[in-house]
Amino acid sequence: MTRTLHLSLDINGRRHELDVEPRVTLLDALREHLALTGTKKGCDQGQCGACTCHVDGQRVLSCLTLAAQVEGRQITTIEGVAGPEGELHPVQAAFLEHDAFQCGYCTPGQIMSAVACIREGHAGSDDEIREYMSGNLCRCGAYNSIVAAVREAAEAAR
Ligand code: FES
Ligand code: FES
Repeated sequence: MTRTLHLSLDINGRRHELDVEPRVTLLDALREHLALTGTKKGCDQGQCGACTCHVDGQRVLSCLTLAAQVEGRQITTIEGVAGPEGELHPVQAAFLEHDAFQCGYCTPGQIMSAVACIREGHAGSDDEIREYMSGNLCRCGAYNSIVAAVREAAEAAR
């Protein structure tokens, strides 16, 4: 018999209750159990960054994080970065401004990394941005526009 765990997860300021097997990742909990499909599944093995979320403000790869590990912590997904009235986060606005996406599949993960990049003070130069963002792959090759968007959002935040 498969054991299930009852979890209470704090996601984007809301409490969610769910029953999952112990091996369920945060990524699958978000997408399959809570219909929070903004967080994308690319490789499912820590290689692409598409699944990037924040836990207690720190960037994590949700495909490598068990849902059970993050109970009691503050989880933020792409659905939670806009303001209370739906106004875009400055990083989201900068991505739009710079056309920093093509198909958009990598974009939620890029934005979650970019928010952390700026907040943690790693956006001082294009090289620094590229280094911090290097775990977020973009198969469309929108890298130059992504760096430009992060640079602009970082400058606006100073
Ligand atoms: Fe998590 Fe690729 S889906 S790193
Ligand atoms: Fe298509 Fe990045 S915009 S993978």
